[in-house]
Amino acid sequence: MDIKISQDCDKEVLVINKFENELTSQELANQYAVEKDGFEGKLGTTYLLHTYGKENFAKILVVGFGKKEEFNETKMTEAVAKAMKKLAQIKAKSACFAFENVEEYGKYAVIGAYIGDYAFDKYKSEKAHHIDEVVFANFKESDVNEGIIFGEAMKYSRDIANEPAEYATPTRLADMASGLSGLDTRIYNKEEVEKMGMGAYLAVARGSAEPPKFIHMKYSNGNPKKRIAIIGKGLCFDSGGMDLKPASSMLTMRDDMSGAACVLGVMRALTSIKPQDIEIHGIIAACENMPGQHAYKPGDILTAKNGKTIEVDNTDAEGRLTLADALCYASELGVDEVIDIATLTGACMVALGSIASGVMGNDEEMIKKIIDTAKISGEKYWELPMFDEYMNGLKSDIADMKNTGSRYGGASAAGVFLKEFVKDVKWVHIDIAGTAFLEKPQGIFIYGSTGAGVRTLLNYLTK
Ligand code: BES
Ligand code: MG
Ligand code: ZN
Repeated sequence: MDIKISQDCDKEVLVINKFENELTSQELANQYAVEKDGFEGKLGTTYLLHTYGKENFAKILVVGFGKKEEFNETKMTEAVAKAMKKLAQIKAKSACFAFENVEEYGKYAVIGAYIGDYAFDKYKSEKAHHIDEVVFANFKESDVNEGIIFGEAMKYSRDIANEPAEYATPTRLADMASGLSGLDTRIYNKEEVEKMGMGAYLAVARGSAEPPKFIHMKYSNGNPKKRIAIIGKGLCFDSGGMDLKPASSMLTMRDDMSGAACVLGVMRALTSIKPQDIEIHGIIAACENMPGQHAYKPGDILTAKNGKTIEVDNTDAEGRLTLADALCYASELGVDEVIDIATLTGACMVALGSIASGVMGNDEEMIKKIIDTAKISGEKYWELPMFDEYMNGLKSDIADMKNTGSRYGGASAAGVFLKEFVKDVKWVHIDIAGTAFLEKPQGIFIYGSTGAGVRTLLNYLTK
């Protein structure tokens, strides 16, 4: 898909907007769609009409924008994504979007175009239809360019998370990270990770034939006034380990590296956006959780990088073990803020479904800022509690703590567990277990990875 800005709107399809209770900018559309057929313009609905040689474009697609007073960034993304799906359905090759009275939302329109156009058809003999040329007539060039970077970042991230585990191994993620230009990247192999004392992360990795890779990417530009680390859970496959998951729960566990895919997408985009005077670290403790001969076992006692000991209560609560060491590592970087993003708990999915991601942390102001950023980015984040009492369930008779406790309040228990490994830094944890990967289409997203976190983190880091 080639995206351009131009006033030359003579493409196959002209795409225009219609707010509820208003007319469009096009006489033909007003005559036929509105007056004759009563097209109301509810958000994301579309009406297609042919111009039969009366105009320089063969068709007009009217897109509903809903109520004018309720219109915002997210609605723009949704409306354009729906329009793109309609264009794909009619197998259009080119289209010009000439929206009126919404000049300030260019970035979110382009993001919508990417989401609506997305397909993961690498392994399909029959490929999806893509529109070759998309022209935007009434937006600022800088907004469109930013939208392209965000859209590309989401697509890149979704492609990685959609890949089978056979392809997206820890080594592959490390190679992808090393291949990103404009970043300072270091990959630590198993021996180096051992030397750093990451006993929790290494235990998880032990049952797999795939070697673990600890990935540290660094972006910096100018004199950093702020330094932030983002950590993505990178479980390339989560079988549950010795506490093996039932088949139905294991089926989509290739998505357990969605946090890592998000971090890769964000780091890659930063090299295009080039934010000034900021330093951003992207960290992934990549591995697989498998029940191989060397697998860690229930009852084992692990020592994390900060010296704290953990009794393994359940080998399927592996994400928090890998994140524990990554959080210790990030805390030692001397950054101002740490954000981790992880497909961490089924409990978060039970609480919020696939609609919202759970947010916890040790700094109310930072939590609020991230939730507010999600709102304009088109994602829904919801704060979950992190009361100290949740730690009671993780008491161990033989170690400093256990890795799991009661089934109830599982997302919060995971949150307080992670907190034990955060030192002297503001920190926010985002649980994307329910939102990262859809088992059936939802809204503007098709089956599979959604690129959860990419838009929000990019906005957070570059605003
Ligand atoms: N990767 C899973 C969490 C998950 C579940 C992500 C569903 C996406 C969809 C995580 O490692 C896990 O297995 N968590 C366990 C923890 C339990 C053993 C305390 C869970 O949530 O069941
Ligand atoms: Mg697990
Ligand atoms: Zn997991």
